[in-house]
Amino acid sequence: MLPKCGRKTSPRGGCANSLLVLVGLAAILSVSHAYIRVCYYTNWSQFRPSKGRFLPENIDPFVCTHILFAFGVANATSNNITAIEWNDPALYSRMMDLKIQNPNLKVLMAIGGWNARSTHFTQIVANDASMTQFNNNALAFLRQHKFDGLDIDWEYPTTRGGSPRDRRRFTVWLQSLRQLFEQEAIESKQPRLLLMAAVVGAIAPALAYYQIPQIVQ
Ligand SMILES: *[C@@H]1O[C@H](CO)[C@@H](O)[C@H](O)[C@H]1NC(C)=O
Ligand SMILES: *[C@@H]1O[C@H](CO)[C@@H](O)[C@H](O)[C@H]1NC(C)=O
Repeated sequence: MLPKCGRKTSPRGGCANSLLVLVGLAAILSVSHAYIRVCYYTNWSQFRPSKGRFLPENIDPFVCTHILFAFGVANATSNNITAIEWNDPALYSRMMDLKIQNPNLKVLMAIGGWNARSTHFTQIVANDASMTQFNNNALAFLRQHKFDGLDIDWEYPTTRGGSPRDRRRFTVWLQSLRQLFEQEAIESKQPRLLLMAAVVGAIAPALAYYQIPQIVQ
């Protein structure tokens, strides 16, 4: 008996069309996993005058695959993520509501930003004790507010109030965060928190600020 092929059968009796369909589907699946469109929601957009005012409800939940809340503070005083504006936590939860319409949407907390310079980051990563404390607190913060992950906007390791040690410590920090997120995902049985970083674009500063091969791993 010939296999069923929908309406058409190839001259050899095989399922030419089915094969094409499968290849097409595989291509779509791999594309949909690989393709991401990351968008920032800024904490100052709520203060724009009149029609420029932009709130979480104004976001089309299908335009971006990932939305980053910009920004929270990587706070070296409390070794934790802290909010900037008085109403940020309310905005987080309104942003999470977008996932009701699009359950595939990921919402991440972005810490740092241009105005933050290196100051807090350099202190946090300076030694293993403060780094570990920050990581544990940040994890609790992310889970408490139902974020899907963390985006680190350190602009940039070693510069703008930083230390030459930042280059190596940034790698160590990313490794320890990733390890923590993997461990916690097993224990909590929740999807692993995502880890992203905004990095400098030009090659010369990138080579100076980051241990790229180690970070890529
Ligand atoms: C938003 O976050 C930035 C830090 O990136 C901060 O400097 C600023 O004061 C915050 N609020 C507004 C209204 O811009
Ligand atoms: C860091 O956290 C402390 C304690 O929660 C707070 O008083 C301080 O304002 C925070 N620093 C920044 C830069 O937001």
